[in-house]
Amino acid sequence: MKNHNLAVIPGDGVGPEVTAVALSILDAAEEQFGFSTMRTEVPLGADHFLETGNLLTEEAIETLTSSDAIMFGAIGSPKVTPGVLERGIILALRGSMRQAINLRPVRLYPGVPTPIAGLTPQRCDMVIVRENTEGAYVGTGSTVHRGTTAAVATQESINTWYGVERAVDFAFRLAQQRRKKVTLCHKTNVLVQAGALWLEAMRVVGERYPDVEQDYVHVDAMCMHLPVSPERFDVVVTDNLFGDIVTDLGAVVQGGLGVASSGNLNIDGSATSMFEPIHGSAPDIAGKGWANPAGAALSLALLLSTLGEGKAAAAIERATAAVLAELPGLAGEAMGMSTTGVGERIIAVMQSDEAPGLPGDSLMEQLAVVQAGLRDRA
Ligand code: NAI
Ligand code: MG
Repeated sequence: MKNHNLAVIPGDGVGPEVTAVALSILDAAEEQFGFSTMRTEVPLGADHFLETGNLLTEEAIETLTSSDAIMFGAIGSPKVTPGVLERGIILALRGSMRQAINLRPVRLYPGVPTPIAGLTPQRCDMVIVRENTEGAYVGTGSTVHRGTTAAVATQESINTWYGVERAVDFAFRLAQQRRKKVTLCHKTNVLVQAGALWLEAMRVVGERYPDVEQDYVHVDAMCMHLPVSPERFDVVVTDNLFGDIVTDLGAVVQGGLGVASSGNLNIDGSATSMFEPIHGSAPDIAGKGWANPAGAALSLALLLSTLGEGKAAAAIERATAAVLAELPGLAGEAMGMSTTGVGERIIAVMQSDEAPGLPGDSLMEQLAVVQAGLRDRA
């Protein structure tokens, strides 16, 4: 029986609540699909920081790096200055684990309410590949004359061929398993230096994948096309800042924060990938049992697909989608069930195999193929 070593970072607020549900779904999936996991909890987040003064220790990095995958809840607390935990933990992890790609599926599941009138699941099934380590988020720049009317702040966007090429290559690999179309989302007409590097990567990498069509869209136009005609997009590749923004728009279209999942992928095998629902610690509803665990469950599915457990991953996705369709609302009291209640229902649907198939092919199986290809290359 295959065993996987997982590191688990429950974090703060609703993070531990949705992570506990994901782990119970994992227990059930292990039994049903015949694999096992060893789990090591890594206590990172606001409470840990306030107790110990530590953001990210060598020891934590060691545990995370030596695991096969990381499951992450959410961190953040009103008790800690905004930015301290984000930069000191989340961005630091993405950098030190060399998580080159932030993968964000934007898929509308049948029966899930979307704010876009008339949108159907058949028309909304894309994956956003966000460069995850560079761009405007590297933290370079400076401020002189801070606090005076002469203050000058610079914040640079760093784009390396190495970082851009590997993101674009990943997008093409994934598109090859899907509908064979990659769209670059950027602002090449204004950000001409960075834009030229991204366009050149699309040209060079595109030659390696002649069966994949390529397209380009400006990020502002993307904000109109994504909600109104998502069927234009299969795989979208974009930089760190634009990716941050358009993935939230995608999340709204697919049913909101409770539903959306993500993976921070290390694609060269040099460290570990990390999977997380895209929502934060939601301090306003923490402790109430109102958090929707679907985003965490779908993130678990992404995690399992990259570990080669494609069948379990696809079953979790199907069961989660089926349960989402049953819920009267997607968050808070409107969900009509508690966080753990939703988890129990997902497990029951998975075990009884009563979930209907989903339109389109399974991203989970596509990812398993891409990941296997990357392992062969490494
Ligand atoms: P948030 O995502 O925590 O919450 C935004 C709104 O959505 C809140 O009204 C919340 O109740 C609701 N919500 C979030 N997740 C939900 C779920 N699973 N089910 C139902 N409703 C849900 O974002 P916010 O309020 O901006 O940030 C709160 C804290 O989380 C901050 O400290 C922030 O820095 C941190 N944060 C952490 C992230 C991470 O760990 N990756 C990502 C985003 C924010
Ligand atoms: Mg964001």
